[in-house]
Amino acid sequence: MAEYDFDVLVIGAGPGGYVAAIRAAQLGLKTACAEGRETLGGTCLNVGCIPSKAMLHASELYDHAANGTMAKLGIKVTPELDLDTMHGQRRDAVKQLTGGIEFLFKKNKVEWLKGYAAFTSGDTVQVGDRTVRAKNIVIATGSSVTPLPGVAIDNDAHVVVDSTGALELPKVPEHMVVIGGGVIGLELGSVWRRLGAKVTCVEFLDQILPGFDGEIRKEANKIFKKQGIEFKLSTKVTGVAVDGGKATLTLEPAQGGDATTLDADCVLVSIGRKPNTDGLALDKAGLTVNQRGQVEIDHDFRTSVPGIWAIGDVAPGPMLAHKAEDEGIAVAENIAGQTGIVNHDIIPSVVYTWPEIAGVGLTEEAAKAKLAETGGEVKVGKFPMMANSRAKTNHEPDGFVKIISDAKTDRVLGAWIIAVPAGTMIAQVAQAMEFGATSEDIAYTCHAHPTHSEAIKEAAMGVRGKAIHI
Ligand code: FAD
Ligand code: NAI
Repeated sequence: MAEYDFDVLVIGAGPGGYVAAIRAAQLGLKTACAEGRETLGGTCLNVGCIPSKAMLHASELYDHAANGTMAKLGIKVTPELDLDTMHGQRRDAVKQLTGGIEFLFKKNKVEWLKGYAAFTSGDTVQVGDRTVRAKNIVIATGSSVTPLPGVAIDNDAHVVVDSTGALELPKVPEHMVVIGGGVIGLELGSVWRRLGAKVTCVEFLDQILPGFDGEIRKEANKIFKKQGIEFKLSTKVTGVAVDGGKATLTLEPAQGGDATTLDADCVLVSIGRKPNTDGLALDKAGLTVNQRGQVEIDHDFRTSVPGIWAIGDVAPGPMLAHKAEDEGIAVAENIAGQTGIVNHDIIPSVVYTWPEIAGVGLTEEAAKAKLAETGGEVKVGKFPMMANSRAKTNHEPDGFVKIISDAKTDRVLGAWIIAVPAGTMIAQVAQAMEFGATSEDIAYTCHAHPTHSEAIKEAAMGVRGKAIHI
């Protein structure tokens, strides 16, 4: 048998794969990473987290100028939208960050195998015309958009688009219909609403943001409605007809009933994402996928085939960049014989709208159900941003902080936040939970004044009924 070409071959250079490759190389392992895209960084850097945040940030500033938030502070401006420049700064951010990964690969001596990889056996893959044998292979191929049956996405025509197409629209649509009230629909719907589009969101379920805490979902819905997004909940899209650059959607009540139509000049399909395994020839390696199309792994990220590992969106768990990154570090450490661990119970989740929406740990519903199994109960503390001095000063009254604890032990089980900087605030609770904190620990930690984070301290005080400012 020929020698191994590499100790580690990572397939896919998204936040899971590129981080795994860099960490493996740092640990002294001879490492390569196969990536078929022209730039490194995967979905996240090329068409996901980074470009969406570039558009969210720019459109937020435009919105503040155009819709009166700045005027409230005594700054009167009439903004003019220069969409080409806005797109340009987005592309610059992507170019710089993806180029940064290429630099890190060189610095750490990770070899980039350019092309899409397919297994030819349990330890060999084909990348272009190169056959590579590796002692360890990490599958980090990520995910792509779930298509809606019968609805053809054509990003170049700008009428029926997925998230990639929605980042690239050359002009502001008059009416954008977003199919799916999840994270992508709300973030990218917000971008185009802020820039002047009428936005309607059609959601199959009776509330937006599945997986989030129930009260947070309701409050978020209220805030987005106030901002002008229209919602059609409990409604399904059964077809989209395109004619002359316009789309007509056919809608039906989710439980069945009479169909109605809705006209739009842009339709964003954002009904979820599916793991990328097509073209990998998993069968040649002796692997299969589960019912959700994911590659199953154990606690250490090992698949059922020795020497093959899987991380990120292609493996079970939330499809989030930071989950993929942490798994990338852990898998490399496990391959190197160390103990790489990711605590999947404490992975924060953030929606980067205005205000932001963030959560970590259990929802109130899940916590109640879990503790009820052993006769336990939860205690909840809440604090409105309206009563937080910094939020008030900044004219950011919407939202609240909610902390959920075990009534018996006081240990924090989850936290949910709607606040302008909720994505930054949630890290504190994640860390506290990682250290096994009680709500009392948070309540008796000195928080700087005036900061939005004081609302976390007050909510923690509220778990015992003792908040000061409410
Ligand atoms: P990916 O980033 O999908 O990377 C996989 C890579 O593998 C791709 O580059 C692909 O080309 C490559 N590949 C696939 N098959 C092969 C093959 N056979 N051979 C070689 N290469 C292959 N998450 C967040 O946490 N925060 C956010 O703000 C956020 N925003 C998002 C916004 C949008 C619009 C989208 C679509 C997603 C967003 N996500 C966000 C999700 C995030 O992008 C993913 O969770 C993350 O990219 C997953 O990382 P990954 O490494 O598993 O896979
Ligand atoms: P999602 O799973 O968040 O939301 C999809 C929504 O579509 C759900 O509410 C679902 O009920 C609804 N839906 C499904 N089928 C439907 C239909 N036929 N008609 C109407 N509604 C329907 O998926 P989304 O928004 O596409 O995002 C995919 C993933 O990408 C997210 O789950 C997340 O993991 C990741 N992401 C993360 C971001 C972040 O962390 N800020 C930003 C963007 C994406």
